[in-house]
Amino acid sequence: MSKECKKAYITTPIYYVNDIPHIGHAYTTIIADMLAIYSRLSGLDTFFLTGTDEHGQKIEQAAKKRGKTPKEYADEISAKFKELWDEFKITYDKFIRTTDEYHIKGVQKAFEKMYQKGDIYKGVYKGHYCIGCETFFTQTQLVDGELCPDCGRETTIVEEESYFFRLSKYQDKLLKWYKENEKCILPKTRRNEVIRFVEEGLEDLSITRTSFDWGIKLPESLNDPKHVIYVWLDALMNYLTALGYGTTEDKLDYWPARVHLIGKDILRFHAIYWPAFLMSLDMPLPKHIATHGWWTRNGEKMSKSKGNVINPKEVADAYGLDNFRYFLIREVPFGGDGDFSQRALIDRINNDLGNDLGNLLNRLIGMSSKYTNQEIDSSNVEEFYKDELEKVNEHIDNLEPLLFDMQLHRYLEELWKPLAIANKAIDKYQPWNLMKEGKTKEVEALLGLIANILAKVAIMLHPVMPTTTKKISEALNFEINKDSFKKYIKEKELLNKFTIKKIPPLFPKIEEKLMPEPQQEQKPKKEQKKKEEKSEGLITIDEFFKVDLRVGKVLEAQEVKKSKKLLLLKVDLGEERPRQIVAGIKEWYKPEDLINSYVCVVANLKPAKLMGLVSEGMLLAAKDEDGLSLIRPEKPKKEGTRIS
Ligand code: MSP
Repeated sequence: MSKECKKAYITTPIYYVNDIPHIGHAYTTIIADMLAIYSRLSGLDTFFLTGTDEHGQKIEQAAKKRGKTPKEYADEISAKFKELWDEFKITYDKFIRTTDEYHIKGVQKAFEKMYQKGDIYKGVYKGHYCIGCETFFTQTQLVDGELCPDCGRETTIVEEESYFFRLSKYQDKLLKWYKENEKCILPKTRRNEVIRFVEEGLEDLSITRTSFDWGIKLPESLNDPKHVIYVWLDALMNYLTALGYGTTEDKLDYWPARVHLIGKDILRFHAIYWPAFLMSLDMPLPKHIATHGWWTRNGEKMSKSKGNVINPKEVADAYGLDNFRYFLIREVPFGGDGDFSQRALIDRINNDLGNDLGNLLNRLIGMSSKYTNQEIDSSNVEEFYKDELEKVNEHIDNLEPLLFDMQLHRYLEELWKPLAIANKAIDKYQPWNLMKEGKTKEVEALLGLIANILAKVAIMLHPVMPTTTKKISEALNFEINKDSFKKYIKEKELLNKFTIKKIPPLFPKIEEKLMPEPQQEQKPKKEQKKKEEKSEGLITIDEFFKVDLRVGKVLEAQEVKKSKKLLLLKVDLGEERPRQIVAGIKEWYKPEDLINSYVCVVANLKPAKLMGLVSEGMLLAAKDEDGLSLIRPEKPKKEGTRIS
């Protein structure tokens, strides 16, 4: 099949309408947009889907709280998502809502097909249900016998008649799929996680509810009106119904999806349930399920109660949409968690964008008006700057594989290398001196090299910064489109002629934060600030002694089930009974290696609950890029000895 007729179907999760859009939603959508723009540029027939997930108990409750019907409420919030994506110029081809009639029909069709196939049966469900996560958990999955392993909240025992999907039947097939398709779940660490989970055994999945009403009814042929379809079956089906599954079927040739973009919290649904549903429907499986991490703010989890949720529109308004897009993709390795801070964003804008890219363009504009009357002929670039050109081409060639592997921050890192080559070439060849020596041909070739580098970088940066790169292309007088991608990227041709246009600087320097920080982080009041300045962050000895540091001996240690980070310790501090301490050190210490060893403990910390377990102290540790190491007394000291 030629590349031109290949199709690429790219999706975001459909967003719950129980909350307005925040940075997490923007992150997924912007990455999907980047992939879709790239895909179109490279000549693929692309279909990009996003939308909203509108059924379920959570939405029903959120609507009730506001005195609205679920549909009224869903209409309102769904519109907010759509408005934001439109303002953000997201290039989606379709916006699906799970309350759309065609979606409802498609889901019912799928249910019917699975039922007829014998993959759905009726039974009684008794289980622990987390309303917040809309998920049932088995006893073994629960933390502390009753808490939700995902959000830590209490679950309730629910017993109800339910239809079940034979998930267990698909266990081996799923494992085969993961194992035979190395890149089906990206990054690979997530794939391993899923394999381990499935290998532990899959239970059949309850896929209907009778305890509430706001959902899709079963197909009429089943004649069982008190059930509604489980929100995750309903939601996942959007990827097919949007293409006309069960109704018009008009776009089904886009299936299978090239990539489903998701956050790590919804991996299980996408990597286990969804492929099993698809197998049951005899549909091919998606090519990639790409899983990103979570954003925090200034190192803290975002939550409404803390008032530190990042509104993506505010950031884009303050710092520029393209700059925000660049930051989101460049700052964090795809798959890892990321921290949003205005400082980090400002540094990216001033350094990467301002210094490396913006200044290069300014220098080119300046030099071209000084030396070549704003016209640049690149005929001699290869003669004088062959080495530079070869290196640039190598870097450009590296980009597509990085993109396909979802190594998006590395994509940008690699894309910055040609810019470094261009900046270095100016410093090395010093066109102002070449001019003095009368080497005008070399100067023009140098400008041709730089203009070509900027043009190629602009084409490849276009999916990340569509508006800015358009400005660059206007300044250099060329077009960014499928043809230029083919010619100047794939076929490595050089643009022969440039007519340079002066444009205002693309990235004016940002000196200070442009948005207020959340309340609790706002600067202290004047007097307190003065006081703090005086002591310059120093504390008195009395203040130090407020922290009660003690030597402890570890008596018992075990893993906290379902937690990747936590160990549960019993530590003797010479008191009546040992302290229970929950410590985030599982990645670095095995429980058996800790027993009978000495540790340093903050003994007067307010007890806190972690994964439902009370922690009565904190261990001292030091962490750097090589990992974490506990701080211990050099020689054993009596349990409870004060550290000073
Ligand atoms: N409705 C489901 C998805 C159904 S897809 C068939 C859902 N919706 S959601 O609105 O709660 O979340 C949507 C996406 O936002 C998820 O991929 C989630 O990971 C992402 N994020 C929510 N908060 C986030 C951060 N703080 N950081 C990054 N992304 C996070 O789940």
